[in-house]
Amino acid sequence: MAARGVGLLTRLSLSAQRSQVQCPLRRLLSCPGTVAADLRREEQSSGSAETGSEDRTPKKRFSEVQNERREQAQRTVLIHCPNKIDEKKFLKFLSQHGPINSHFFYESFGLYAVVEFCQKESVTSLQNITRTPSLGPEAAIPFKSRYFNLKLRNSSNQTSELSSIQCSNQSSPSSKKLYQLLCCAESVDDQLNTLLREFQLTEENTRLRYLTCSLIEDVAAAYFPDCAVRPFGSSVNSFGKLGCDLDMFLDLDEIGKFTAQKTSGNFLMEFQVKNVPSERVATQKILSVIGECLDQFGPGCVGVQKILNARCPLVRFSHQASGFQCDLTTNNRIALKSSELLYMYGALDSRVRALAFSVRCWARAHSLTSSIPGAWITNFSLTVMVIFFLQRRSPPILPTLDYLKTLADAEDKCIIEGYNCTFVRDLNRIKPSGNTETLELLLKEFFEYFGNFAFNKNSINIRQGKEQNKPESSPLHIQNPFETSLNVSKNVSQSQLQKFVDLARESAWILHQEGKDRPSPSSNQPWGLAALLLPSVANNVSLSKKKKKPASERIKNLLDSIKSSGAENSTATNGRRAISTQA
Ligand code: CTP
Ligand code: MG
Repeated sequence: MAARGVGLLTRLSLSAQRSQVQCPLRRLLSCPGTVAADLRREEQSSGSAETGSEDRTPKKRFSEVQNERREQAQRTVLIHCPNKIDEKKFLKFLSQHGPINSHFFYESFGLYAVVEFCQKESVTSLQNITRTPSLGPEAAIPFKSRYFNLKLRNSSNQTSELSSIQCSNQSSPSSKKLYQLLCCAESVDDQLNTLLREFQLTEENTRLRYLTCSLIEDVAAAYFPDCAVRPFGSSVNSFGKLGCDLDMFLDLDEIGKFTAQKTSGNFLMEFQVKNVPSERVATQKILSVIGECLDQFGPGCVGVQKILNARCPLVRFSHQASGFQCDLTTNNRIALKSSELLYMYGALDSRVRALAFSVRCWARAHSLTSSIPGAWITNFSLTVMVIFFLQRRSPPILPTLDYLKTLADAEDKCIIEGYNCTFVRDLNRIKPSGNTETLELLLKEFFEYFGNFAFNKNSINIRQGKEQNKPESSPLHIQNPFETSLNVSKNVSQSQLQKFVDLARESAWILHQEGKDRPSPSSNQPWGLAALLLPSVANNVSLSKKKKKPASERIKNLLDSIKSSGAENSTATNGRRAISTQA
């Protein structure tokens, strides 16, 4: 992501300051009883996604969260501001169009404000006093969007009254900062929770994601009124890291829906439509025109690529103002359903997200995942592996998908393209697990489990929560939870899988040794998660502090010993489970 965020420490103190600075202002501008007031409560309990998994308040359904956020985004505008601006005057100016519910600023190659009005009409009122710029020799294509440019009328008068603006951070901490935070933690469990806190999407980042979808929806609605553009994937499934891409689904199913319900009598009205040979061709044509619109007229949409021959056709582009890399698709409603499933799993137990974030960060740190498509394992696959592993614990930490299906009622029934995607959607109906294992143990066991997994013959299957015989010969087989004939990790090569297995074994070994011989927090040695994620950063920090004394000797020796014993098809001893080299 291109967002130019402030550093982590600044961010922490800023958010502390921000809550003090903004509270009176927020009270002044707040519209009681709105979704935003609700969401603000959730913001305070950050760390448990949208559901507050640690507390006992009823957990919201995925669809409720999506609808509320979408409605909130429709009352929100994005404003590119001059670098220096008087915040109070700015808000006063905007509130001429109606009360403001909330706002925040962020930096991304310039200063931006996200302003949520209490009512949609305020947006229209603001649009009505906004002009299309005249650009000298260039010509502007007029488009009445919700993405504005703010200019100062008398900039010389105004600059004297400026105070600096508090910006919300949109990026994850630097490796060095993360290393420091992890080394200061009190336990490995604390480290995993710290990592989650630092990398999970913030309230502001989530709002910006929904707003970006809403702005794209405005463009698509020029062609397809009543369409919806919905975020899916890690932006909404609670496993998103700051900087992750923004997956969007152009939903055309609502078009023409209500007429069908309202007709009565002897006649039935249908729209005259154009027919094309197949669903796939329809998808390609729709995405082709929307891609063209975004490219030609979409404010802030750059680098538009139409990737229409992919298995799942898409339009990829960058949304400059938010810094998001966006993938827009239109015929993969099942992916929306799997986002809902992951959201449920993430909300069922607070250990799920903490473990998944650590595994995802670990994989990224060792280049097992990449932002470039290729033979690597994906974050989605890793998350499914974490869920599967947690289903295999005794007692299980997560239920199987088949069990969630048995809890479903008539309203939960969902068939998409012939696939049964039914599962219970009310989180409150699922009993919490009695398993009390620590995150430290789970992380270690995760690496041991997959270091030993018989990938050559078994498939990972969260529907049944059991290893299954592989139906085909791909090195890694992870069954798609709904389209059960699909392998979500078909792209992964044998060498990438082997790298994953080797690193999992090494990491299990490091954590195992760690348990016996943990350096004291004051020793400045990387330990626990820091040792797994950041050996190179640890080396640098220690080198500069300790005048070139090799810092991570202990880990290096361990790795060397594993490598040499690995050559002999070794086992990890110390009374632990044997680690075989079978992949
Ligand atoms: N998806 C799928 N099968 C795949 C790949 C993706 O069903 N083989 C669906 C999943 O619901 C996934 C979503 O498409 O969450 C978006 O895919 P992707 O962007 O690759 O994964 P994310 O989960 O969004 O993770 P990341 O943070 O890496 O973007
Ligand atoms: Mg994604």
